[in-house]
Amino acid sequence: MTRHPLFPQGFLWGAATSAYQIEGSPLADGAGPSNWHRFTHTPGHVSGSDTGDLACDHYRRWRDDILLMKQLGLKAYRFSLAWSRIVPDGTGSVNRKGLDFYRRLIDTLNDEGIEPFVTLHHWDLPAVLEDQGGWSQRDSAQWFAGYAEQVFKAFNGQVRFWSTFNEPWVIVDAGYLHTVHPPALGSVQHAARAAHNLLRAHGAAVQAFRAVGSGQIGLVVNLEPKYAATHEPDDVAAMARMHSYMNCQFLDPALLGSYPIQLDEVYGTGWQQQFPPADMEMIHQPIDFLGINYYSRGIVHNDPTATPFGASPVRPERVEYTDMGWEVFPEGLRICLLWVQKRYGNIPLYITENGAAFADPPVQDGCIHDPRRMAYYRLHLQSALDALRKGVPLRGYFAWSLLDNFEWTAGYSKRFGLIGVDYITQARTLKDSALFYRRVIESNGQAIWE
Ligand code: FCB
Repeated sequence: MTRHPLFPQGFLWGAATSAYQIEGSPLADGAGPSNWHRFTHTPGHVSGSDTGDLACDHYRRWRDDILLMKQLGLKAYRFSLAWSRIVPDGTGSVNRKGLDFYRRLIDTLNDEGIEPFVTLHHWDLPAVLEDQGGWSQRDSAQWFAGYAEQVFKAFNGQVRFWSTFNEPWVIVDAGYLHTVHPPALGSVQHAARAAHNLLRAHGAAVQAFRAVGSGQIGLVVNLEPKYAATHEPDDVAAMARMHSYMNCQFLDPALLGSYPIQLDEVYGTGWQQQFPPADMEMIHQPIDFLGINYYSRGIVHNDPTATPFGASPVRPERVEYTDMGWEVFPEGLRICLLWVQKRYGNIPLYITENGAAFADPPVQDGCIHDPRRMAYYRLHLQSALDALRKGVPLRGYFAWSLLDNFEWTAGYSKRFGLIGVDYITQARTLKDSALFYRRVIESNGQAIWE
């Protein structure tokens, strides 16, 4: 039998979720409303008018969910904290009961030997802060650092891995530049300001962490290798703009201390002049790791009518797409990992999300057979291993997602879980991909070759 290379000892195998997508009970125990709570309760925003009111009912079923994690053999669990549970008014006093929910979760994970990998902000902002301008407001950096400091103090020593933000690019692109996520502003000026303030908030939280916290802190971004539809110079230039906008917009300032020059073509020449130069010092803080969320690639062509980028997506034929309409492109994961190492150096990396939405068949003999999701995981893990063998400092991998859950504007119509959720009975059923992932973890990767 050929022995294939395995993942390094101590590789952190996990699965990921986020607060609003799984918890339910959004206003329980003194929590304040979040922007997502409000958005889903405003007609017309979410497919099927779905809301996160019940979701996976994880707020009440978290103990059982930890048992499922044990059953999968997970070494780590990535989840986010709902700011509006902990500080219902966004700033000011802490809601003890909200904090206690996470304390019970974190203590139990630690008792069970599952590493809590905690995200401070995965898109659900206290609604009162959105009313005050959200991330387009400069004060948002202090709001966030204040909340972060409370949390660092409360869980000091209990959590070793912290991330400030999940995918700041999506917050800006979907919520400020376009109108698909809250606050649905659709404004280039607000997008530029929100991006900058998210980076300032990230830096301020890292500074607070160094002062009062312990363990490691990083940032989680979503990356996509970008391709030009043709070799024509206009298409290549469009590709370069999209690459800067999506892949470099947050990493360059956070890790290199400057914005990519091509961002001027998106936000307008001189856009940075509205910000004090000293901001960059606050943004450019040393961090301990980088989290990469990877799903697909992007192919673009030049399109002057598509403002502000002048680029539109191209969808190749005869390739596989997931239910999200995302092309399955496993080699893109290796390409992203190698690109990050080349551009930003040897910072430790975690794949903090990777997975696929496919429609699942009904439960059969106590299982859900999902061969396409299983194949997706297998191919992406092979690609990640390839990057590791080429010297990328990859330290862990998190499947998205532990459970089927509330997929933002797609509501419950898209299923990403390793574990299926029946939204009527809340019954959980392991899918074949979960059993496969368990074998991967047990064998430290050998199962991806079987
Ligand atoms: C990512 C999000 C995550 C989930 C997956 C499918 O962009 O971080 O919450 O929705 O996509």
